Amino acid sequence: MGDDISSDNGIVICMRDISVVYGDFAALYEINLDIKKGDFIGICGPNGSGKTTLLKTMIGLIQPIAGKMTLYGEEIIDSVPVHTRFRIGYVPQITTIDKNFPALVKDVVEMGRYAKAGLVNRIRKIDKQKAMDALRLVDMEHSAERPIGHLSGGQQQRVLIAQALAAEAEVLLLDEFTSALDFRMTEDIMELLDYLNYTHKITIITVGHNIEILRAYCNRIVCINKVIAFDGDPKDSELDKAIIKIFH
Ligand SMILES: Nc1ncnc2c1ncn2[C@@H]1O[C@H](COP(=O)(O)OP(=O)(O)OP(=O)(O)O)[C@@H](O)[C@H]1O
Ligand SMILES: [Mg+2]
Repeated sequence: MGDDISSDNGIVICMRDISVVYGDFAALYEINLDIKKGDFIGICGPNGSGKTTLLKTMIGLIQPIAGKMTLYGEEIIDSVPVHTRFRIGYVPQITTIDKNFPALVKDVVEMGRYAKAGLVNRIRKIDKQKAMDALRLVDMEHSAERPIGHLSGGQQQRVLIAQALAAEAEVLLLDEFTSALDFRMTEDIMELLDYLNYTHKITIITVGHNIEILRAYCNRIVCINKVIAFDGDPKDSELDKAIIKIFH
């Protein structure tokens, strides 16, 4: 894990006045955010407020039209450098994987190792071991040989988290995974994220629609609605005002 914080002051992702447009539609406007190593951030905002756009911008899938972004202290000009790419794992907004999708759970997690090693490199014993270690971390090693499509939404989400961990991600960006899950499964995943954050010092940025759950687990809440409406402590009363303002 990258312990060298000398060049980045512990700031993993830094956004300065970042704006993103789709054609002539402004999706994000002058976003300023510092994501610190060890943060456990909940991002909330109404549908269409730019949450997915924000995550995709953080990993370089979308290029901002204005502003400056650094990852681990290094300015991102066109694309995210290879040495940084796998330090940040992205678990996209999905509902459920097709039940006939042919891959086994272990294959999906090993893909995290392939992605890191490059497809030209064969997967080695150590890669298989790291994939199993990641599955163990998310408590899914018992399902390694099952087809991914046969798992529940919450279990699939665990496997996708394991895939990012197998690639040795230090930061996890999770997009609204809870919308496909019931309350109990959502809590289970939040417990897992809490464990990864606390025990393994993984920085977590998770989008969620249940603000009370985010408040219960996260140490920082960011509310967005194209602009940042709130960024701070979950217990801050200003958060309630921001929520009323952007959701009503
Ligand atoms: N590829 C695209 N082309 C054009 N407009 C887009 C594109 N992707 C997103 N948008 C628009 O940008 C805005 C922000 O979208 P985004 O997906 O970031 O919202 P969100 O907060 O993640 O919403 P949700 O809660 O529904 O997931 C929306 O108005 C959306 O219609
Ligand atoms: Mg979204």
